[in-house]
Amino acid sequence: MEHTEVAKPETLDDLIKMLHEIFKSDNINVEEVQTLMESYESKPQEWKKFAIFDQYRYTRNLVDEGNGKFNLIILCWGEGHGSSIHDHTDSHCFMKMLQGQLKETQFEWPKSQGDMVQKSQRILLENKVAYINDSIGLHRVENASHTEGAVSLHLYSPPFQTCQTFDQRTGHKNTVQMTFWSKYGERIPVETKRSQENN
Ligand SMILES: [Fe+2]
Repeated sequence: MEHTEVAKPETLDDLIKMLHEIFKSDNINVEEVQTLMESYESKPQEWKKFAIFDQYRYTRNLVDEGNGKFNLIILCWGEGHGSSIHDHTDSHCFMKMLQGQLKETQFEWPKSQGDMVQKSQRILLENKVAYINDSIGLHRVENASHTEGAVSLHLYSPPFQTCQTFDQRTGHKNTVQMTFWSKYGERIPVETKRSQENN
């Protein structure tokens, strides 16, 4: 008898259902989640309603709240858009490429004032899944392309609302509030965003 392979999600909805199952447990196997997310073959028609770009900076678009166990977010990176160097607030962070490519540069946590130490750099290709947490280090993510946008699917568990950003030259950090550009495919009205940021 053949070994049964772990079921492969045929659609984004399948993937979300399977993630809900996995995250019922409090013990998360990083490799299992990574393999599952990697086995979904990105099909733009399944996620394009969440992929709302902005001209000026990358956007964060909420797809699913994972029964309170995780947040699933689609990030849309215009040409040349990039994040600051940031941490992940003691959560797991999985990042799957849905379209295009992103450059990930990892850094060590700053120990003293001055230039931050770069650990590694890699290009994430379509359908691949990267993983990071605070014990691995910090990272910056960029769409280095001048001709194509990029779309990535991020899973954060447990969900978090603030993270820390770091100045590469000094290592100084700031706490920042993470906001959504859209939720469930609906653009967040500007007024709502402003009042949230003031609270
Ligand atoms: Fe990140």
